[in-house]
Amino acid sequence: MLTWLSRGSAPVMADEQEEALAQETDAGSKAFVAEPLLTVRNVERSFNAGSQKIRVLKGINLNLYPQQLVMLRGRSGSGKTTLMNLMGGLDTPTEGEIHFKGRPFHKWDDDKRTEVRRKDIGFIFQAYALLPLLSAYENVELSLRMANVPRTEWKSRVTSCLDLVGLSKRMHHRPFELSGGEQQRVAIAKAIAHRPSLLLADEPTAELDSQMAAQVMQVFKEIVVSENVTICMTTHDPTIMEVADHVYEMVDGVFVAK
Ligand SMILES: Nc1ncnc2c1ncn2[C@@H]1O[C@H](COP(=O)(O)OP(=O)(O)O)[C@@H](O)[C@H]1O
Ligand SMILES: [Mg+2]
Repeated sequence: MLTWLSRGSAPVMADEQEEALAQETDAGSKAFVAEPLLTVRNVERSFNAGSQKIRVLKGINLNLYPQQLVMLRGRSGSGKTTLMNLMGGLDTPTEGEIHFKGRPFHKWDDDKRTEVRRKDIGFIFQAYALLPLLSAYENVELSLRMANVPRTEWKSRVTSCLDLVGLSKRMHHRPFELSGGEQQRVAIAKAIAHRPSLLLADEPTAELDSQMAAQVMQVFKEIVVSENVTICMTTHDPTIMEVADHVYEMVDGVFVAK
């Protein structure tokens, strides 16, 4: 088990966590100190807008470890989505390095990153991203098809993922027959069905009332352990941060201490 994780206690800032990790390593307990799942090193991202260059990320450093629930917090426009896109291999940095399970995303072309993404990363967006004509069951099944999971495994995996998010009884409903919170839970089932190591969720609770948001966060807390997944999510909501193992606060393209 990862004893240095602070699940259940107050979120810690990056440097404190690094220090804790180093101490454990110094104490000779390397055997259970995990390698990071994802590392972001000195990452910058700029966009060209006409003749102007807009510097959006200005030197980001971050580590994600196995079975962590990590949050990025910051105002709209601070750069959270830009960073999530880089971590998920949807985009590449202008400067700096991103390694996912040791693979250099910053050097890899889109085809190679897409291959990793399909197999090992799941995405959840603010607006559920379910296909409206498919049932909950079919939506989840689709992600197994996309990841080339053998057909014989589909039924049990789809059923168990919908069970995990508490929607076994709604599996044949289409999105329009479900509440916002239920749709987002289907989206979670869909995003984890192919057993990714990393789940990236961009403002997954922004459209939900506080009770539904709490349900989604409960599911996140559970699957970090039961599905052995690391979750990195963005939020504006301070109450949600209480369940995080770790919170990064972004202001204008850099992380700041809270
Ligand atoms: N493709 C792009 N081209 C130009 N500017 C962009 C692009 N993507 C994001 N930006 C700019 O980067 C800034 C940060 O955006 P974003 O990462 O979406 O912030 P957040 O998710 O924190 O609201 C914004 O000012 C946005 O306009
Ligand atoms: Mg955003």
